[in-house]
Amino acid sequence: MTTTVVDNIGLLVTNDPRLGDGPLGLRRDAAVVFEGEFIIAVGDAGLVADRRVDAEGRCVIPGFVDSHTHLVFAGDRSDEFAARMAGQPYAAGGIRVSVDATRAASDVELSRLTELRRAEARRAGITTVEIKSGYGLQSYHEARCLEVGRRFTEDTTFLGAHVVPPEFEGRADDYVHHVCTDMLQEARPHARWIDAFCEVGAFDVDQSRAVLAAGLAAGLGARLHANQLGHGPGVQLAVEMGCASADHCTYLSDDDIAALAASDTVATFLPATDFSTRQPYPDARRVIDAGAAVALATNCNPGSSYTTSMSFCIALAVRDMHMTPDEAILAATLGGARALRRDDVGAIAQGMRADLCVLDAPSYTHLVYRPGVPLIHRVVERGV
Ligand code: NIG
Repeated sequence: MTTTVVDNIGLLVTNDPRLGDGPLGLRRDAAVVFEGEFIIAVGDAGLVADRRVDAEGRCVIPGFVDSHTHLVFAGDRSDEFAARMAGQPYAAGGIRVSVDATRAASDVELSRLTELRRAEARRAGITTVEIKSGYGLQSYHEARCLEVGRRFTEDTTFLGAHVVPPEFEGRADDYVHHVCTDMLQEARPHARWIDAFCEVGAFDVDQSRAVLAAGLAAGLGARLHANQLGHGPGVQLAVEMGCASADHCTYLSDDDIAALAASDTVATFLPATDFSTRQPYPDARRVIDAGAAVALATNCNPGSSYTTSMSFCIALAVRDMHMTPDEAILAATLGGARALRRDDVGAIAQGMRADLCVLDAPSYTHLVYRPGVPLIHRVVERGV
């Protein structure tokens, strides 16, 4: 098999402290060799392989691991966004607009839209992505959305419990039963994870617990939308159910932070959502200082966060959530991998998947220092 070396790397972020300095495992004047999909060597500049790519002194980081997206949808909700900027609050009910458009889209159209968004995310440096359903909300449509998502990732998440659809208006418990039985059965072959939106206007704590329990019993891993729009029981539920991740974490009490710190549940922040919905930003500093594991993700979706830019999320995390650039890079790469319980992505080391971003910059700090500038020079995904 042909080997390739990315040589003449000015600054390499490995995320492996055994390979370099600090938690980011930083190396100067480095090279990375891969064969097929996997990295076979990390060392000083000058390593030899069949094929050579010259990084010309640029900074190289692991590909971003985006552990929370809703890429499978049709329709446009820019009017809702404009209304929000004029003072309307964000409400979970907007999800139904996307449900109507998604159900109406043909299979070909839904695939095409998802493929375009996946390609956009790749150009933004995202080499691993999680994709949720949640805009079908009927057995057939949820399974269809998951099948589409599966073409782009193994990390698909069944989110039938996104909001109560119109057919079940006023009958949330009946809908939850349907999600936990027939819908789960159809979704199961296409999903790795189960999720629920535990929030006022969506599902309460008992309903969310029932959904996660049904998914776990069916062999799925659990994750949860928690504490997005206000304080609530979501984070505690995520910890109680052993979720891989509690996502959003915008409103956290001291008890929530203590529970996260004492658990294996990653606190996944989605700051582009807080930007797009005019919510306060989460206090990442307190969470990190308490010792909890954290991740950053885009939450790309048509309602609350229509962006595939992890660089933008990193800039917000540093500027408004008081993370250091090092913490933000780690959260957007290895943090995302932990939130997906993956040990093959998120770092540049022997045996890891050959996923890397060459930045058009001498250091990763430029992702924050030069906000809005397209600094992703080149992306390698699975060695390609
Ligand atoms: O993660 N919070 C729930 N789901 C999405 C928003 C979906 C929508 O508004 O369409 C989120 O923000």
